[in-house]
Amino acid sequence: MGAAAVALLAATRRRSTPPVTSLLSRAVRGLHEATAAAEEDRARARRRRSSSSRLLGPDISDTWDPSPRAAARPPPPRDYAVDCEPTVTIIDGKSIAEDIRLQISEEVRQMKNAVGHVPGLAVVLVGDRRDSQSYVRFKVKGCEEVGIKSLLAELPGNCTEDEVVDSVARFNDDPSVHGVLVQLPLPQHMDEEKILNTISLDKDVDGFHPLNVGNLALRSRKPLFVSCAAKACLELLLQSGIDLMGKHVTIIGRSKVVGLPTSLLLQRHHATVSVIHAFTANPEEITRESDIVISAAGVANLVRGSWLKQGAVVIDVGTNPVEDPDSDYGYRLTGDVCFEEAVTVASAITPVPGGVGPVTIAMLLANTLDSAKRVYGLSDSTP
Ligand code: GUN
Repeated sequence: MGAAAVALLAATRRRSTPPVTSLLSRAVRGLHEATAAAEEDRARARRRRSSSSRLLGPDISDTWDPSPRAAARPPPPRDYAVDCEPTVTIIDGKSIAEDIRLQISEEVRQMKNAVGHVPGLAVVLVGDRRDSQSYVRFKVKGCEEVGIKSLLAELPGNCTEDEVVDSVARFNDDPSVHGVLVQLPLPQHMDEEKILNTISLDKDVDGFHPLNVGNLALRSRKPLFVSCAAKACLELLLQSGIDLMGKHVTIIGRSKVVGLPTSLLLQRHHATVSVIHAFTANPEEITRESDIVISAAGVANLVRGSWLKQGAVVIDVGTNPVEDPDSDYGYRLTGDVCFEEAVTVASAITPVPGGVGPVTIAMLLANTLDSAKRVYGLSDSTP
């Protein structure tokens, strides 16, 4: 082969089979391009993630699916022989509520003597849900028992949002009203947030206003009002002599009515708080490690005896209607906790009914009284 042929062959080889250095540099360039593309994808994803709606998470409601975990094993029958721990305390919410109401009645009487006015609570009830109607009846009855004036606006379920807003606005402007609440849930077609936003901050006895929730979250600040159910949980624990500092408390449910404010309030009491919800992977394991379990999931018998550590304290906020042909209304209220099983494990437990419910109403009366005291320049002493 002549020199020219060798040169041609070498040139052809170079074209068809590039040298290793060229291959490497092409590979490196390819890698750079792939890396750059991947980086661009990641940046795009980051940009998508950092839009506020992505950061706040998808808006999926908490629907607990009790099967197969809880439903697989039916709860024991109601007449099941309760084999209580000899030391278990059934926390008596009715009597705690009665003591609070007595104190409130006395303060209402003193207010009337001092300034000639009593506190006033206004309730807006929309629609004809039987559970809401009975909660509102309890609230109105609670007012009557302590001498607080109550005003009730009942609107049909097919009324407009504007009619509800007008009703709230009238109560906001009424100087004899110191607390305004809209009973939840509202009918599906209504914008709950828009309606709750119209309640005056200084009459927000439910404690749902963002400033009240925010100030509750910031430990050095004092909200005007704290959620009644959250205060009830704390009151039941404190009155039962249960120490909270450094204790592991698990709250089941993260609603604005119970779970969220209770978690914030407990942190102010230096508890270590876990909040679990319908998407928590291992709820049973978390509750089993907890000194105190507060359940507000709204699922009958979700919390079984096996979910609890020996000696745990259990606060059951659930009020779930379950069919009961023997009861007057064809149904009875039951908690989130399988009471018959829990009493064999817990050291203290609230019953349903007669536990959190009456204390929650008492706290609503206390919030209304506090609001009136602020208006009339009297000092704050109720729970
Ligand atoms: N529905 C159930 N609980 C409550 C509550 O505490 N406040 C109001 N406004 N509605 C409720």
